[in-house]
Amino acid sequence: MKLKKIDSLAHNLNERPKTLGLFDLSIMGIGAIIGTGILVLTGIVAATDAGPGVIFSFLIAALASGLIGLCYSELTTSIPSSGSAYVYTWVSMGQTIAYLTGWTMLGVYITTTSTVATGWTGYFTSFLNEIGIHIPKALTVSPFNGGVINLPAVVVVLLITLLLSRGMSESKTVNNILVLVKIFIILLFIVVGFFYVKPGKWSPMLPYGVTGVFSGASTVFFAFLGFDALATSAEEAKNVQKNLPRAIIISLLVSTFLYVIVSLVMTGDVIYSKLNVPEAMSYVLITIHQPMVAQIISAGAILGILAVILAFIYASSNIAMAMSRGGFLPKKLSELNEKTGSPNHSIWLIGIIAAVGSGFLDLKNLATFSNVGSICVFALISLSVILIRKRYPELKRPFRVPFGKIIPICSILICIFLLINLPISAWLNYFGWLAIGLIIYLLYSIRHVEY
Ligand code: ALA
Repeated sequence: MKLKKIDSLAHNLNERPKTLGLFDLSIMGIGAIIGTGILVLTGIVAATDAGPGVIFSFLIAALASGLIGLCYSELTTSIPSSGSAYVYTWVSMGQTIAYLTGWTMLGVYITTTSTVATGWTGYFTSFLNEIGIHIPKALTVSPFNGGVINLPAVVVVLLITLLLSRGMSESKTVNNILVLVKIFIILLFIVVGFFYVKPGKWSPMLPYGVTGVFSGASTVFFAFLGFDALATSAEEAKNVQKNLPRAIIISLLVSTFLYVIVSLVMTGDVIYSKLNVPEAMSYVLITIHQPMVAQIISAGAILGILAVILAFIYASSNIAMAMSRGGFLPKKLSELNEKTGSPNHSIWLIGIIAAVGSGFLDLKNLATFSNVGSICVFALISLSVILIRKRYPELKRPFRVPFGKIIPICSILICIFLLINLPISAWLNYFGWLAIGLIIYLLYSIRHVEY
């Protein structure tokens, strides 16, 4: 591929309004990263996988995300495009791998959106129950779980889709507020919980051994997903070369810091074996006799999780838009709305699919494929850094991962390590998704691809 072609893959950079500065990008990253992972998974992983050693699981996952984040930063600054991973793999490995990467990211982001929306309903209904409002079960769980429709999840996904379709400058203000609420409740949990920590509860530190810590790391990796979604905002970022890598690193540092402290406080307040509940933060606060704070945290979680849904619909619509520009998906999906500069057809398509998913499907199993899919893509991204450097040494690289090939190679190895620790069922779901993608590729994309 010629350098000119790479430019055209990263084209349209001047078409969309540049509305996101370093603060907005960092907040958006934190918004996408911190969500159901820390709110729902921490307790479960501590109880069933890692014990108080869940802190090490978080650190391993953070290390992996940091290395991958550096690789993303190099690529996103040299080939800034909404397609992110899909465009980088096109340059490094050709169109078929690029298509499968884009397809994987679409699946990962849509499933993550639906899963997070389902988790959101859990917090929402239990909050309403506390204040005496009861929605019938038939309207809050999917047919697979004994209900008719998860209506709150459908409504919330559609409302956020509507917000996004009004353009980034409106969405950004709402998003910034939601993220600040989310950080506030996590800090509140840390500050209140800190006074009840009994270091004796951290022993034994590794009740399930080192293997438990490793499988815990593969699971809590979900809690870091989102830093990659940030790379899809390249076309709307001001001074993308400087701001995007910084925002990726800042949002990862902030989330790692908060995750580690939350796990220390959680396992220091309540013995790990009792934490096998989805709303562990509220549970811990009720156990230490702080029901009011628990209620505030549930309310804040209801708002804060919305930012994750927003970030993932935004990221998947950007990928759909980029794939449509390349001809892999119908052209309509890359048309920008004249007033807002947003790809509204993509946004609505993704929003509706995610809403249907969260309303009617059983996402518990399906969601595990988010980890397999994204980690496979991350390994390809790390490999792409090495391949693109070799093939296009003259490409401008405003940010370069330091120490030669060492970091990309470590990043690939750690991805392989995390993949080995994931369950077979997750792989089967992923292969199913790839098979659907290949059928579309053979029936449609291969005849329409443009580059
Ligand atoms: N990292 C995101 C979350 O934990 C997906 O909700």
